[in-house]
Amino acid sequence: MAFLEVKNYMKKFGENEVLKGISFSLEKGEVLAIIGSSGGGKTTLLRCLNFLEIPDGGELRLGGEKLFDAAEKKQNSDNRIREKRLHFGLVFQQFNLFPQYTVFKNITLAQTLLAKQDYRRRKEEFAANLREASKSERQLLKDRQKREIYEITAEMKSRDKAAAAEHRAELKKMRAEHAAALKAVSDAQSSGPNGTDKAEQRKIFAELKEEQKKERANVLAEYEKERDSAAAARREMLEQKRAEYAAALEKASRIPALSAEEKKARKAEQREILAEIKANQKARIEEKAESLLARVGLSEKRDSYPYELSGGQQQRVAIARALALNPDILCFDEPTSALDPELTGEVLKVIKGLKSSDSTMIVVTHEMEFAKNVADHVIFMADGVIEEEGTPAEVFEHPKSEKTAAFLRKSSEEI
Ligand SMILES: Nc1ncnc2c1ncn2[C@@H]1O[C@H](COP(=O)(O)OP(=O)(O)OP(=O)(O)O)[C@@H](O)[C@H]1O
Ligand SMILES: [Mg+2]
Repeated sequence: MAFLEVKNYMKKFGENEVLKGISFSLEKGEVLAIIGSSGGGKTTLLRCLNFLEIPDGGELRLGGEKLFDAAEKKQNSDNRIREKRLHFGLVFQQFNLFPQYTVFKNITLAQTLLAKQDYRRRKEEFAANLREASKSERQLLKDRQKREIYEITAEMKSRDKAAAAEHRAELKKMRAEHAAALKAVSDAQSSGPNGTDKAEQRKIFAELKEEQKKERANVLAEYEKERDSAAAARREMLEQKRAEYAAALEKASRIPALSAEEKKARKAEQREILAEIKANQKARIEEKAESLLARVGLSEKRDSYPYELSGGQQQRVAIARALALNPDILCFDEPTSALDPELTGEVLKVIKGLKSSDSTMIVVTHEMEFAKNVADHVIFMADGVIEEEGTPAEVFEHPKSEKTAAFLRKSSEEI
C-alpha cells in the first residue's frame, strides 16, 4: 500500500472550483514534482495537504491509516486538524521566517511549544497521581461506590427507556390491528344482504369496539404493573446496596494512604523528574536544531536574524525549520521562485540532499531540470485536475497530452 494516498480532493473558493478531484499516491521516500501553469491549483493542493485549507471533498490516507475524510465533519475540529498538520511540513515560496527571532529560535520555536504542552500534560498527570495517592482507603472506596451507583442507575434508566419504547410500539401495532378489524366488520356489514337488522349490526360493532378498548387497557395495565414492580425491586436493591456500601465504608481506614512526609517526598521526586524532562527536552531540541543547521550548511548563522541573511539562506533556514518537526511528508511550494538565479542552486542542492529512503517530498516547481533530475514521479496539473502524470522520462520526453506538451514547450522557451 502506498505511503500517501490522496483520493478525489476537491476545493472550491466561492464558485471557483480550484481542485476538481485530485487523486494520487506516493511511496515512502519518493519525491513527487508538481508542475503546471499559473492558477492551476498547485498551491491550493499543497495547502490542502497541510490542512491550511480544509478540502470540501476527498480523503487522505497516510501509512495506511485514514487521516482525513471531508465527509466526517466531526473529525475535523481545529484541534484534530492541528494534530493532523504535524504529519506535513511546508516550505513556502516567501520563506515566512519570523523576523523578530534568530535563526536558531525560528527552527526551535514550534518544537519548544510542543515540548511545553507535553511537559504540562506530564505535570498534570503527576498532580492527579498525587491526589489519588493521598486519599485514604475510605475515600477511594467512596469514590468507587459513587461510580458504581451512577453506573447502575444509568443502566436502569436506559432499560426503562427501552421498555417504554417497546410498550409504545406494541400499542401502536395493536391500534392498527384493531382499526383494521373494525373496518373489516363495517365493510362486511354494509355489503351484506339487505334486510339485516341495522340495530343488531350497530350492537355487534359497538361490542367489538368495547372489547378492543379493554384489550388495550389490559396491555397498558400490564406494562404499568411490570414497570412499578421493577421500580420497587430496584429501590429495594439500591437500598440494600447503600447499606452494604455504608457498612464497608465504616470498616475502611480513614488514614490517608500517604503520610504528610511521604506526600512531601513524592512531590519532591516528581519535581525532580519534571526538571529532568525539561532539561532533556531542551537538549534534544537544541541538538536537533544544530544538526539541521549543519545539514543546510548554516551552522555559523545560528544567531543571525532573517534580515541578515540572503534569500537562499533564509530559504534554507525555512527548510531546517520544517524538518525540525520530523514531518512524514515535506512539501515545497516553488522554493526557489523568489530567489535570484545565482541563489537557486544552493537551495535546490539542499533539497536534493534531503532525498533519502525515509524522507518523502512533494515539490511544486518551475525548475524543469530539477524536476527531471530529482523527482521519481511528476504530475502536471492544469485547471484543477491532473492532466498527466508519470516518471520524469514519460512526462518530459513523451508527454501524452497536448496540454502538457504545450506547457513544456512554453517553459523551455522562457529559459
Ligand atoms: N484563499 C483563496 N481565496 C479565493 N481564491 C483562491 C484562494 N487561493 C487560491 N485561490 C484561487 O484558486 C486558483 C488556484 O490558485 P493556486 O494558488 O492554487 O494556483 P497555482 O497553481 O499555485 O498558481 P501559481 O503557479 O501562480 O502559484 C486561482 O484562481 C486563485 O485565484
Ligand atoms: Mg502557487
